[in-house]
Amino acid sequence: MKAKKQIVELRPDIYQIRVDRPGSHVYLIKGEAKNVLIDTGIAANFPNLKDRLKEVKLQPEDIHLIILTHEHFDHIGASSFFFNTAALAAHRLAANKIQLQDEFVMMSKYFDRLAKPVRADIYLEGDTMIDLGNYRLQIMHTPGHTSGCICLYEPDHKLLFTGDTVLADGILSGVFASGSISDYHMTLQRLSGLRTENLYPGHGRISTSPERDIQKALEETRSLLDDSRMLFEALDTKATFERLFLSWRRFPLPPEKKRKDEDNKT
Ligand SMILES: [Fe+2]
Repeated sequence: MKAKKQIVELRPDIYQIRVDRPGSHVYLIKGEAKNVLIDTGIAANFPNLKDRLKEVKLQPEDIHLIILTHEHFDHIGASSFFFNTAALAAHRLAANKIQLQDEFVMMSKYFDRLAKPVRADIYLEGDTMIDLGNYRLQIMHTPGHTSGCICLYEPDHKLLFTGDTVLADGILSGVFASGSISDYHMTLQRLSGLRTENLYPGHGRISTSPERDIQKALEETRSLLDDSRMLFEALDTKATFERLFLSWRRFPLPPEKKRKDEDNKT
């Protein structure tokens, strides 16, 4: 069954636009002078997005800024339709992958066949503040799910737009290419220190229990670290990594291995 497409006003001038899977939620913030979208969903979501914007009396060209929470296809695909009229911003580590069309990380061609190349205009850094008058958005670099993930913190209303970093009930979105479990752990430790009333995630329902959910996610990263440690202990890691290293053409053979190979030849 298809998810119901709709637009919901979460707070005055903050809307969540829900779309079909696999697209992410889109958040619209109507600022005092400028309108912002946080993520856009997949390219196929654009007609729906246009219709939902119309419900709040906006056209696509009324969007001034798009902030991408990270570089995954399901969050960025429809951004290309706004490129001529809105500025596109992402953390510099996500913007870099978007500019270079790093398909290994973005996965656009595989999952979003309508995707056109997306380009980034603004390379964000952590602690950048975007002041919309009625709301302020503080950029937090939150690597883990990928290296270029950000969360957006609204300090006056204690809201956290989390993208895929943490979902309601403390669900993690997994560690994908360019991500790291250890970075995820550090990110969640930082987020646990924030005073937050609501999590507005990229998928699923919003959370009204951020403290509990972030603690749960933090515990999950610890058990992921334990699992990966056990996995690598169980595997013959030396042989596995040696094969991997040898597949990188310019990687030199370890001296011991090189000597054995030469002995075998003679
Ligand atoms: Fe993602």
